[in-house]
Amino acid sequence: MQFIDLRSDTVTRPTPEMYEAMATAPLGDDVLGDDPTVVQLEELAAKMTGKEVGLFVPSGTMSNQLALASHCQPGDAILIEEEAHILYYEVGAPALLAGVVSWTLPSQRGAIDPDYLDRRVLKANLHTPGTSLICLENTHNRAGGAIIPLEMMEAYRGVADKHGIKVHLDGARVFNAAVALGLPVDHITCHVDSVSICLSKGLRSPIGSVLCGSAELIDKARIWRKRLGGGMRQAGILAACGIVSLTKMVDRLAEDHSRAKRLATSIQDLPGLSLDLATVETNMVLVNTEAPATDWQAWLQEEGLLCFPVASHRLRLVFHGDIDDDKTDRAILAFQNVSGKLSHTSPTLGLN
Ligand SMILES: Cc1ncc(COP(=O)(O)O)c(C=O)c1O
Repeated sequence: MQFIDLRSDTVTRPTPEMYEAMATAPLGDDVLGDDPTVVQLEELAAKMTGKEVGLFVPSGTMSNQLALASHCQPGDAILIEEEAHILYYEVGAPALLAGVVSWTLPSQRGAIDPDYLDRRVLKANLHTPGTSLICLENTHNRAGGAIIPLEMMEAYRGVADKHGIKVHLDGARVFNAAVALGLPVDHITCHVDSVSICLSKGLRSPIGSVLCGSAELIDKARIWRKRLGGGMRQAGILAACGIVSLTKMVDRLAEDHSRAKRLATSIQDLPGLSLDLATVETNMVLVNTEAPATDWQAWLQEEGLLCFPVASHRLRLVFHGDIDDDKTDRAILAFQNVSGKLSHTSPTLGLN
């Protein structure tokens, strides 16, 4: 069976144009600083995000962790939303690598209350660690691709400036936010000191992220990248795809957003499911399930649809460049079929 894969936007394969770019990219040794294709990608990413310098790295996780290690000193405190990727899915790296203590804050769909954030900034003294960094995520993964409103980004900048501390943005999907808001990405990234962008999610590259920030920060990050074994040699072969991502794949994110909305609209009233259409802002749909989400995951798989549970009764569906209108229709049909079968089955028995 040909599965419709809505597990993540990381599952996309490179486009024909990317294969072509890989085959023809001029290459060098990037650890020695002379791979022209990597240099071109880093300059492009820095320009688009309005930062001085970019650094090409293998993954979003490494990019975030280099930022933390470069902004902070061991023993510092960071302020971070409690369901952020950096905390939830990076296997304790902030404590292990940067050696920071994470002060976690609640949020409304990824957006922390700026007054609360302000009150949680600590001054270092004999007893308490000093806060040196605020970490943000936009769009917010576990909040279902939620956009952090621009006025919030601005307010966080204000808090950081008031206390003389820095702001890092996990912008794995910041281009989704920019496209949904109809703005160039630097309207978002202008509020932060560093941003990690992922090329291998909605932008369809096979591998790679770019950390963008000041020259001083990136000098430190480059040392951390080497220390962690992230220095790559003829990395231009990958950076070539990244250039295609940044020049050709940004605008098409709007298609993923509209397909996500279409699926959400079509399944919102199905028996056994509920969702809030207003929360479908970008390429993700969070669906609440009456039956356990793992049961729904298995039933949908039998219908040819792959997705992940993100809570006991919640599924996440992620749209990306390999999902066209036809596959969106088939995904909707999969939900209709499971819901239809459930309605004709005793709730205590479920499907069999
Ligand atoms: C918000 C966010 N940040 C960072 C990452 C990490 O990216 P990578 O898988 O390339 O390490 C992800 C991956 O899904 C993510 O969703």
